[in-house]
Formats: sequence, C-alpha cells, structure tokens
Amino acid sequence: MNVILLGPPGAGKGTQAKRLEEAYNLIQLSTGDMLRAEIKSGSELGRKVDKVIKSGGLVPDDLIVKLISDRIDDANSSDGIILDGFPRTTGQAEALDAMLAEKGMKMDYVIQIKLDDDEVVERLSGRFNCAKCGAGYHDKLNRPKKDGVCDICGGTEFSRRDDDKPETVKTRLVAYHEQTAPILPFYEKKGVLVAVDGSAGIEEVGRQIMEILGRS
Ligand code: AP5
Repeated sequence: MNVILLGPPGAGKGTQAKRLEEAYNLIQLSTGDMLRAEIKSGSELGRKVDKVIKSGGLVPDDLIVKLISDRIDDANSSDGIILDGFPRTTGQAEALDAMLAEKGMKMDYVIQIKLDDDEVVERLSGRFNCAKCGAGYHDKLNRPKKDGVCDICGGTEFSRRDDDKPETVKTRLVAYHEQTAPILPFYEKKGVLVAVDGSAGIEEVGRQIMEILGRS
C-alpha cells in the first residue's frame, strides 16, 4: 500500500507517518527530513538547499524528484511507502506519477490533513524534537511523559527547527496555499483523495486515517 500525507506545515504529517510506519510496515519518505540530513552532512545538495529552507520557500522540483526517486527504489523491502512532504507542486505530482508507473507501482491513498493557518502557527511555534531519535513533541499539545526525557529513546537533548520562526512560517504557508494546495484536484480526479480533520488530537487523527486505510 502506498500513501501520500498532504497538508500544510505543522498539520501532523510527520507525526502520523511515524505511527503508520509501525502499524502497516511502511517506509516513511519525508523530503523535509532528507533535505535536513543533507544540510547536516554538509553535502553539495545540502549547501544548495540550506538558504531555500531557511527562507521558507520550496526547493526546485528537479532536485527533489531525483532525491525521492532513489529512496523509493531503496524502500522495496517494506509493504509500501508513505510520502510525507512530497509531492508539493504540480510538477512533482506529475513526476511522481511517471516514476511510479515506471516502477510498476501506484498511489493507493492521498490523505489530506486539514488545518487552519492559525493552528499551523500555534503548532509550529511550540514544536521541538528529540535530538537523538527525532521524535516530535510540542510545548503544550504533545509533551514528553517525563519533562526533558524523550518517550521513545530516553534522550535528554532536544532541538527546534530554524524554519519554525514565525516569519518563516508565514512564507511556508504562502508556499503551501499557492503551490501545494493546487495539486489536491489532481488527486481528487483520480479518486484517491480523502480528507481528515487535523485539528483533532493525535490519537483521533490517527484513528481517522486508519479507518480510511481499512484497519481501525
Ligand atoms: P517539511 O519538513 O516537509 O515541513 P512541512 O511540510 O512544512 O511540515 P512539517 O514537518 O513542518 O509539519 P508536519 O505536518 O510534519 O507536522 P508535525 O507532525 O511535525 O519541509 C521543510 C522545508 O523543506 C520546506 O519548507 C521546503 O523548503 C523543503 N521541502 C521539503 N519537501 C519539499 C518538496 N517536496 N519540494 C520542495 N521543497 C521541499 O507536527 C507539528 C507539531 O504539532 C508537533 O509539535 C506535533 O507534536 C504537533 N502535533 C501533530 N499532530 C497533532 C495533533 N493532531 N494535535 C496536536 N498536536 C499535534
């Protein structure tokens, strides 16, 4: 089963992708995580995309399509893939279609996680991640069970993303509305688009998604 999680910044794509990975033996392919890993490694690609990400704009389609194509090839040991943060433009959606057809694959579900702009700002201003395993938390909405200790790996160091600053979040929202939201009709026409209410709690959003995927 192959799934796309689509929605504005902070809608909960990464949070839900991690839950689905375990429940369905799928591989999460997050273009945001891949790009941040490239930046951290100091690679040529990382140097190229660093400024773009800090500005809140989108990385050029050709770089992203190449990055994701290689990872889809690597994911064939799982029962499918969850794309998180890709596609994000009409060009990427078309390239994905061609890529999947070439690999004899198809997209089964595109899940739109809906969230208002005000809630996006609230989610991102309070987000932090475990520096060791990457698990996501929130100052108010999703705190670790024990303050200062990661629930998953016991790590005690946490980090915040540079692009979660309020001025950058505004630019990311504009990019979402102008470049990503227009691909929703593309998937609606294919009959694979289903929406969930992202403003519900993490458990409830997960339940809605699993109901769609056929296992609640
Ligand atoms: P990327 O990393 O993909 O960022 P994004 O799409 O903006 O999404 P986020 O990761 O910020 O949010 P999320 O939806 O995963 O929410 P999360 O689960 O963390 O991309 C970053 C940048 O890379 C882009 O701006 C662009 O420059 C570049 N890029 C990436 N892909 C690209 C592409 N394909 N093309 C071009 N450029 C690309 O949750 C957020 C917070 O809310 C957390 O604190 C979480 O604990 C909390 N939370 C989650 N769900 C709930 C809930 N239901 N209730 C309460 N709290 C919740």
